Amino acid sequence: MNNKKIIMANWKMNPSSQEEVLRLTKGVLAQRLPKNVELIIAPPFVYLDLVKRNCGREIKLAAQNISWAERGAYTGEISSLMVRNLGCDYVIIGHSERRHKMGETDEMINLKLKAAFKVGLIPVLAVGEKESNDDIIKVLTQQVKSALEGIGTSEIGRLIIAYEPVWAIGTRLTDTPDHALSTALLIRKIVSNLYGPEWASDLPVLYGGSVSEENAVDFIAQNGINGALVGNVSLELEKFIKIIKAAEINAQ
Ligand code: PGA
Repeated sequence: MNNKKIIMANWKMNPSSQEEVLRLTKGVLAQRLPKNVELIIAPPFVYLDLVKRNCGREIKLAAQNISWAERGAYTGEISSLMVRNLGCDYVIIGHSERRHKMGETDEMINLKLKAAFKVGLIPVLAVGEKESNDDIIKVLTQQVKSALEGIGTSEIGRLIIAYEPVWAIGTRLTDTPDHALSTALLIRKIVSNLYGPEWASDLPVLYGGSVSEENAVDFIAQNGINGALVGNVSLELEKFIKIIKAAEINAQ
């Protein structure tokens, strides 16, 4: 991975109209987008095509989820190949809202990662402890290990991991930059134990959880943190643009 900082907007189940999608997309595009920042938008499935047609080449597209199944009788599901063919380069896998609100299991997450790699999508695997006093080494080791079960080194070089403490998501409570950094190192250590140090040092690790225009720089400026996964604030155009600018200043 190069030294670009990654800023990923997770719109979650928002917004509710195409007009708002266009306002947000065109608003971001109207900026001079920095070359040293990989800017990714993850809209709901129904807007992927609309965003793709309006986001130019500078903004990359991500799905927020995919099915673990390839095709067939899975009513309501969307496959990895469908979103790849729509122009997605990335997909978020294992977001805590899917783990905890939609009952996604470690096994499903593992299958979804495999489905993503198979079609050439870059998965952004979200991991994080539920409570701030949880045993973080135990939780993250288990999440990373189970997610990567059966995944080889030919794929691991295309993985991104987002550290998203669940207690910090949508709560306006952020982790401290120091703790986020040490957790990014912990994640690399877990990957190193599984695949070897050369894979771990190249692994991009993002921080997510109440990232705002005010605190983004504290995380992005850390050398061991490759960028941010931004939820609610990515829907507030002016604030989101400030986050992109913070990444530009801190990328190499
Ligand atoms: P938040 O969400 O920025 O609203 O906390 C982050 C995420 O869910 O990825």
